[in-house]
Formats: sequence, structure tokens, C-alpha cells
Amino acid sequence: MKVLITENIAKEGIEILEREGLEADLKLGLSREELLDTVGPYDAIIVRSVTKVNSELLGCAPNLKVVGRAGNGIDNIELPACTKRGIIVVNTPESNTMAAAELAIGLIFSVFRNIPQASAAGRRKDFRRKRFDGIELDGKTVGIIGLGRIGSIVATKLKGCNMSAVAYDPYITDERFKKLGVDKCETLEELLDKSDVITLHTPKTEETVGMIGEKEIARCKKGIVIINAARGGLVNEDALYNAVRSGHVRGAGIDVLNPEPGYDKSPEEQTYTNKLLELDNIIITPHLGASTAEATYLVGTAVSELVAAALKGEMVAAVNMPSFGGNQLKELKPYLELGEILGKIYYQAEKETVQKVEVMYSGELAQLETGIITSSVLKGLLDPIVREKVNYVNAEFLLREMGVEIVEGNKTLLDKYTNLITVTFHTKFKTLSVSGTVFAKEEKRIVDFFGYKLDFEPSSHIIAIQNIDKPGIIGQVGTILGAKGVNIAAMQWSRNRKGEKAVSFVSVDHEVDFEIMQKLRQIDGVLLATMMNF
Ligand code: NAD
Ligand code: MLT
Repeated sequence: MKVLITENIAKEGIEILEREGLEADLKLGLSREELLDTVGPYDAIIVRSVTKVNSELLGCAPNLKVVGRAGNGIDNIELPACTKRGIIVVNTPESNTMAAAELAIGLIFSVFRNIPQASAAGRRKDFRRKRFDGIELDGKTVGIIGLGRIGSIVATKLKGCNMSAVAYDPYITDERFKKLGVDKCETLEELLDKSDVITLHTPKTEETVGMIGEKEIARCKKGIVIINAARGGLVNEDALYNAVRSGHVRGAGIDVLNPEPGYDKSPEEQTYTNKLLELDNIIITPHLGASTAEATYLVGTAVSELVAAALKGEMVAAVNMPSFGGNQLKELKPYLELGEILGKIYYQAEKETVQKVEVMYSGELAQLETGIITSSVLKGLLDPIVREKVNYVNAEFLLREMGVEIVEGNKTLLDKYTNLITVTFHTKFKTLSVSGTVFAKEEKRIVDFFGYKLDFEPSSHIIAIQNIDKPGIIGQVGTILGAKGVNIAAMQWSRNRKGEKAVSFVSVDHEVDFEIMQKLRQIDGVLLATMMNF
């Protein structure tokens, strides 16, 4: 399989891909047209923050199965378009956190002490140092917008410089603020009022674009310093330019511009313009947040491992899949398999369109991250009808597009089992449930099939027979299968009330053809006979 890498990653990452038997093509500096012409045969693409992976690119990439984002922000990836196509999107959010935090702090020092300007002047043999008098961090207040991975490190490190840290992040708990020793600002305005330097560490979303604009800057103390090492556009560039020129803003440290320039072009080829580049007090770095030896190594190796694993069909933590703790995977595996089996039962046994699926987790399962198990149930449900197209990534998306309501719930109390997954399928006219359990950590059992109690070990091929509860039916089933050379591996039957209806589960060694199934259906008293393949 082929992997296209459009932006620089560590050579160790490329070696990982090759060791996994993948053909890795590093093609830097492709124009958009060249990229669209090139991407067609590739199974995966690895990008950083510049390459836009959007519907246009996906339209030119019929083989694409995995997008590897070497880094954190995914604002250059059109996630819904990838999800719809079942393309797995992986990123490496932890790998460059320290690098980005240290760059933001470096920018604060640089602006406070005019380090880049003084250095540039020194190279011109201009050593008139009076012009570069700075200010100290000690005793000042840093206002952090976004107290996530990077914002937290910035807070902790700057407290070591004897700064006070305040933060605005409405999505973080009070406990987290307390643990980090950061004062919580209830509003952005409160943060603007208190800060001597503001540093942004949020993702780029509708809510955060332009969140520091003319009005916000005007509210800040005179001499405020603004740092953006998160995403271009979070700070309105016109407002910043004007406020630096007027002297209301002392200076700014900007790692991310809006739009971004091409980072592989020589100055002669570069056509990029941005008026922020005109002002000396605005220190601009070329999106260097992740550019340390340590982060480059970690990001490059992590993304390659994830892409290789995803291409091999292994379950990986993907941006467009429900999350599961990495170390929960082993624990979750039998439940994922069971969930898929339970999901696959419905459309093999019934034809009526499902309008709502409910997945209920009981017992010890209620403590686990069950979202991914639900994805496997949904994948199983769609598998018999749209097998080519469905996977963990797009199953929920496809079902919702089909108008199916999906509900997930938890019940903790159970008397008979330690864990139980119950999937209920609602159609216009009826409601049917199947349940399964895992015991001894790996033994899967179907314990309820449309209201019939069982204890059946699922195998690859099961014939489910619903019949009137009367003598002789099981014998005839055995005779028909035996006469056609079909080996029965296991068999179990269940009835709810004597003389009414019963269900038999017959595990066979291979799929049984239509003609044999018809013979089973013709047995007097058989109501339904369904071949189910798992
Ligand atoms: P994170 O997801 O760990 O943290 C982001 C925080 O922002 C979260 O706590 C979230 O609650 C908060 N947030 C979201 N919306 C908000 C809003 N409207 N107001 C206030 N807070 C809000 O992300 P992270 O790993 O810390 O990354 C932060 C940013 O840094 C991202 O934009 C990422 O892309 C960028 N980044 C840049 C570089 C670089 O090279 N310059 C490197 C790594 C990450
Ligand atoms: C990131 O989001 O990880 C950073 O912007 C770094 C990068 O991609 O170069």
C-alpha cells in the first residue's frame, strides 16, 4: 500500500512505514494542482498543518483510507467529508505539546526583552542598546485563553517565573484550575482586564476565530503583550496591527499567520504578504511551535505507527471515532466482537427497516468507554446491507443519514450476568432485542435472540430456525443437513412457553446454500430459517 507524505516528518517515521512494508513517498512543496494530480493511487496521506485535506482532495483520492495529521490541530482536515467516506483520521495531539508551550514562552521573553530586534540590529553593527529596554515577567500576570494541554504547561512554567496566572476556559472544571494554581476568569473580559500578557491556546473554531479583535484589545491594559502560537486568525490581524502602531499594544509574538505562507518556498519564490510583517514590535516565527528535535521525532514516529496500524485494519484511536483509552483496547476487544455480532443479526434475520437502535450496557460494562462498542454494533447492523462501505468511522454517520435514531444507555444492576449488551431494534411495527455477554474475559455468548433465552457461543455460520414447538422438527433439521453433508458443530434450542414458538440455533462449519435453506423452511412447523454469517 502507498503513503503520500506532503510535509516534512522525521526520517524515523518514514522508516517505520517502510518497515511495515508500505511504499512511502515524501513529496514536499507540491502545488495544489500537482497534489490533486498525484494523490489518486495513495491509500494514506500524511500532512502537517498546511495541506488542506478537503472534499476536493478526497474527490481525487478514490483509494484513500487513512489521513495522518502529523501534529495536533485538525482545522486543515475536513472531518465530516472523511467520516462520510469512512476515512480514518489520526493525529498526534500529545507529541508536540511541550514544544508549543516552550515556543509561546519564548515569544513572551522575546517581546518583553526585544531579543530578536536587538539581535538583528547587532548584526548590522548597531549596538545602541537603549532602544531595547524591556520589561520583566516577574510579578506580572499572564492571561491564558484555553487551559488545555499547552495552556496548562504554559501556566505551570510561567508560575516558576513568579508570574500570576489567570485563564479563561469555560470547558475546564474548577478542580483543574485549582490543581494548576490558576485563577479562573468567568469571562473573557475579566481576563482582558487582569492580564499584562495574553497568550492564546484554543483550537480554531467558529467560537474562537477573531476572539481577540479591536474591542477586546481596546479593553486591555495599555502596554499589553499578545502571543498567538495556536492558530492564525484567533487574533484579528488588522486590529493587532493598528493597536501595535498606536502603542496600545507593546508588542506581539505571532507563530501562526492568517493565511499561512508556504513554508518550503525560498524568499525569491515567496509571494506572501501580510502587513504584520511591517512592524518591528511584532515578532513573527514561521509556525515553529512543533519544530524541536524532540517533537519532530515524537510526531513523525507516532503518526507513522498510527497510519501503518490503521492501514493494517487494526483498531487505532482516531479523531473521527469514539475515544477509548489506548490500554482499554485489550479489555474492549471481546465486547467489540460481540457488539458487531449482535448488530449483524438483525438484517440477516429480518427485513423490516430499522428506525431506531438502542444499545444498552449493563453490569461492569457501564464503567467502560462504550462509544466504540456502539460503533461496532452499528457497523454490524449495516454490514449485511452496505458491506463495501461501512466501517467503525462512518457507521453512525451512515445510519443517521438514513434517518435512524441511535440511543446509548447504561444500567449498572444485573442479577445473572456480570456484563450484558442488549441491542434493541425498533421498526415501524415491532421491537426486537438481542443480548450477549462475555464471561471469563473472552468467551462470547448470545443469551437472548428476539425474546428467546439462549446460551450460545457465536460461530462464523449459524442457522437460526423459528418454529412451532412440536416434536420431530430438530430431527428433520439434522436429517436434511446430514444428507447434504453439512456438519453441525453445536446446536441449542429455546422455547418460551410449551407448545408455542421455539428457536433453534444450529452452528455449522460453512455457509449453507439457498437450496438447503429452502428445504429447512419447508419442514412442517418451521416458521423461519435464516442463515447468519458473522
Ligand atoms: P487542547 O485541546 O488540549 O486545549 C484547548 C483548550 O481550549 C481546551 O481546554 C478547550 O476547552 C479550550 N477552548 C476551546 N474553546 C474555547 C473558547 N471559546 N474559549 C476559551 N477556551 C476554549 O489543545 P492544545 O493541544 O493545548 O492546543 C492548543 C492550540 O495550539 C491548538 O489550536 C493547536 O492546534 C495549537 N498548536 C499549535 C502548535 C504550533 O506549532 N504553533 C503546536 C501544537 C498545537
Ligand atoms: C500542530 O497543530 O500540531 C501544530 O500546528 C504543528 C504543526 O502541525 O506543524
